[in-house]
Amino acid sequence: MSDWKIRRAPTIQTELEVPGDKSISHRAVMLAAMSNGPCVIKGFLPSEDCMATVGAMRSLGVAIEVADETTLIVHGMRGVFTAPTGEIDCGNSGTTMRLMAGILAGQPFRSRLVGDASLSKRPMRRVIEPLTKMGAKITAEGKDGRPPLVIEGGKLKPLQFVSPVASAQVKSAVLLAGMFAKGKTSVTEPTQSRDHTERMLEYFLVRPQKQGLTVSVFGGQTPESREFRVPGDISSAAFWLVAAAAQPRSRLLVKNVGLNETRTGVLAVLVRMGAAIREVIDAQAEPIGVVEIQGARLKGTEIKGAEIPNVIDEIPILAVAAALAHGKTVISDAGELRVKETDRLAAVAMNLRLMGAQVAETEDGLEIIGGTPLHGARLDSFGDHRIAMAFAVAGMFAEGETTITGTECVNTSYPNFYATLEKLLKQPTEAQTRVITSLPTR
Ligand code: S3P
Repeated sequence: MSDWKIRRAPTIQTELEVPGDKSISHRAVMLAAMSNGPCVIKGFLPSEDCMATVGAMRSLGVAIEVADETTLIVHGMRGVFTAPTGEIDCGNSGTTMRLMAGILAGQPFRSRLVGDASLSKRPMRRVIEPLTKMGAKITAEGKDGRPPLVIEGGKLKPLQFVSPVASAQVKSAVLLAGMFAKGKTSVTEPTQSRDHTERMLEYFLVRPQKQGLTVSVFGGQTPESREFRVPGDISSAAFWLVAAAAQPRSRLLVKNVGLNETRTGVLAVLVRMGAAIREVIDAQAEPIGVVEIQGARLKGTEIKGAEIPNVIDEIPILAVAAALAHGKTVISDAGELRVKETDRLAAVAMNLRLMGAQVAETEDGLEIIGGTPLHGARLDSFGDHRIAMAFAVAGMFAEGETTITGTECVNTSYPNFYATLEKLLKQPTEAQTRVITSLPTR
């Protein structure tokens, strides 16, 4: 197991890029595989999670060439796949398992999806129930609807599904299954979750319909093969944005980052907390652009309700921002964090406390009284990439040395995280500093 040792960082004055978006990389491979020809995917995130999706698609007979580290050529099979010869290993990736379940529900063969110890504890009933209503036979071999999943797919009926959770994974599983059903399948969610699947369907010329919180798709359409560019991952950028936001004289520019408004809640929260943010958005299939952030003495805020799905993966790092801010931050309606790669509310509370922060864990959130100086500590990642990265950033602000153990999990979403961290831990050189004055203020 590899550990990181982190010390207080100097003021950030630099620009950087982050690797491709994880959610979008998964979907690009899946939609390309369902399309009618070769699709070049640029900016792909070659992390363990996304490679699990590549592996899953390959096991269904899809030819996927790796042209260079971040460019794939996926040869679409018009949604007609071949039966896998062995089980499909989804590793740590909930997105792979849940979205593949949607695709496999529409295939006339049996498949078995397995995952690692963390994924094997995650709830799957949320996709089993709607997919079963559509006609698939799905058995969860684990307790209470947990993986492994055995899926016997076939002819599907369309479904009008009202989802009890605001989950992009659930919405996407049903919409992808809907591509194999005769007629119109729709999903209504309680609050808006990330909309990458809908956007990508649109980009691949399948026409989804959107009305309020309902998205529908007509089955029987074949996505049109096209080139697709994956933007940088705002959830990866969030670690550096918080590191810059919480230092009063810092200035950071993140280029080529995805700025889809179902994902940029982290920017809105940091603005509320006092950071100055400017951005330029260039809309392609997915909005992409530049974000400039200037640090400040942050203040506490409230994060709850409809904003939660928009910051679902950023809550660990926003909790770190809250500990560095003055005043109280209350995070609520975030019970979903208890069923992520680890129980993120418990993990964040424990690690913040070990660093000296004042934090109370509630059933569905955290209450953090910021401003107590953080001190270095030995912290566990709990095998969760976002916990490891959030507390590496906390270590940049702590007195003394912070050790994070079990850091190999970051390979699931951000393999080069440590290289960028090392760059920021060094003093900025003149060449790295840049003053950008032309971006409009958020
Ligand atoms: C994801 C959706 C979110 C998010 C996860 C990726 C996706 O999960 O936490 O990291 O790609 O659809 P839920 O849909 O379960 O909230």
